[in-house]
Amino acid sequence: MVWSYADVGIDLGTENVRVVVRGRGVVIDEPSAVAVDRQSGLFAAAGGQAEELLATDPYKFIRLRPLSNGAIARYDCALMLLRNIITRVSGGRGLARPRVALSVAARPSQVEKRTWLQVAMESGARATALVEAPMAAAIGAGVDVLAPGGNMVADIGAGVTDIGVVSAGGIVVSDRLKVGGASIDRGLQAYARDSHRLALGRRSAEEIKVKLGAQGWTTQEASLTVHGRDLADGLPKAATFSAKEMSPAIERQVQPVIDAVRCLFGCTPPELASDIAATAIVLTGGGSRLAGLAGLMSEKMGVLFRVAPDPDTCVIRGIGELLTGMDPRVTCAWKSV
Ligand SMILES: Nc1ncnc2c1ncn2[C@@H]1O[C@H](COP(=O)(O)OP(=O)(O)OP(=O)(O)O)[C@@H](O)[C@H]1O
Ligand SMILES: [Mg+2]
Repeated sequence: MVWSYADVGIDLGTENVRVVVRGRGVVIDEPSAVAVDRQSGLFAAAGGQAEELLATDPYKFIRLRPLSNGAIARYDCALMLLRNIITRVSGGRGLARPRVALSVAARPSQVEKRTWLQVAMESGARATALVEAPMAAAIGAGVDVLAPGGNMVADIGAGVTDIGVVSAGGIVVSDRLKVGGASIDRGLQAYARDSHRLALGRRSAEEIKVKLGAQGWTTQEASLTVHGRDLADGLPKAATFSAKEMSPAIERQVQPVIDAVRCLFGCTPPELASDIAATAIVLTGGGSRLAGLAGLMSEKMGVLFRVAPDPDTCVIRGIGELLTGMDPRVTCAWKSV
């Protein structure tokens, strides 16, 4: 299939949406959210603009997110966001309808496929192709996906983790878990509630995860003071969390990913499993930026993990490479209409 200049790749994630245009690279990397008018329910803005609008006038607008745990939860909202993106990348010219490649779970169900294809077409795509996320992540991470050897990649996003073994241009085994960076944040909120009787906002929990992580989980001195609400009297309260006390809460949330990787190993043909063990399992996605994650997983599994360079954009850069045309064997990653 020959793709024209107006070929667009979209990685619509639970928290972020990233867009690549063939020949222009990644052009959009923004929150996957839309702002709608609280009174009328009408669309106001999408992506970064929506966040600006919500910050300036939080009473007039509400934030809607199209995806929940990697799946389209609000079709209307996904439509608004994709329409806005397609209009932006095609320079507002209604006639130049692009062909759109979207990232989806490996082996999507018929319902998932139909939903993604329909939302893309309704948003203004001329043709749509679905790219399986582990394949896109592996390509974006620089893995030689056409080599006969096996490579395992785990893309840890905000709401889902996609794990897959790629070999000879195809996905051999895969799994999708409904855990990611957001479940780690929820774990930290639960810890603050149970141990400090403090109700923490999602952003504060994320701040703890990112900032304390950067200082090292095992460093005794690392600590951070955040503000929340006292569960006893409902008043604002500040609490100091140390990295050391938080690390078990984080480990608990990471455990399902470790279990899934172990389980996937069990279904991987032995010769490919030995290739993976001889190299390293590649981590991609924003969630893989959690400090010390690769080390923790390597320690628990006894197999080496490494974080890909620029992990957040691996999937979208992988789609970008597919758009520019690769070996035809990779076409098995495409489900075109
Ligand atoms: N430095 C960091 N340390 C820890 N976590 C981080 C860091 N930077 C980003 N994250 C986390 O990465 C997640 C977002 O990752 P990403 O953008 O890949 O998700 P997404 O593609 O929108 O979601 P999904 O793929 O699950 O649908 C968030 O949960 C965020 O907290
Ligand atoms: Mg993602």
